[in-house]
Amino acid sequence: MLTLNINGKDQELDVPADMPLLWVLRDVAHLTGTKFGCGMAQCGACTVHIDGAPLRSCITPATAVAHGQKIITIEGLSTDGSHPVQQAWAELDVVQCGYCQSGQIMSAAALLAKIPKPTDNDIDQALSGNICRCGTYPRIRAAVKRAAEIG
Ligand code: FES
Ligand code: FES
Repeated sequence: MLTLNINGKDQELDVPADMPLLWVLRDVAHLTGTKFGCGMAQCGACTVHIDGAPLRSCITPATAVAHGQKIITIEGLSTDGSHPVQQAWAELDVVQCGYCQSGQIMSAAALLAKIPKPTDNDIDQALSGNICRCGTYPRIRAAVKRAAEIG
């Protein structure tokens, strides 16, 4: 059994020792907002926060998350979609197919928590590991700036 703090709640989960955090979140904790893309830390679809820092959950064994560390998934970013990043994403209609977007949002939220008024370079660096096959990059950059205004 493994105890993980997910979205503010301790959960005791029965998981194999080598199970990646992504699959613990999706298949055991039933939080399916975090997506599987490449499984090799190349696309960012699986991004969650560990103690506020973005992390690729597809290559992180759940057992590597220390007891007491706080895991936040897209479901826990806000209770009602009111996080500034979520507001900005809706306002600027960023999403196309949506598959990459929870990862994009989690990376953007981590960036803004660290750098409240990011430059274009900050945004490009922070989100360079989040791939969007639909090419929503210009709207993502604009929405990060908008979120910085709202937040
Ligand atoms: S699924 Fe984790 S980085 Fe692609
Ligand atoms: S919105 Fe389709 S992959 Fe990014």
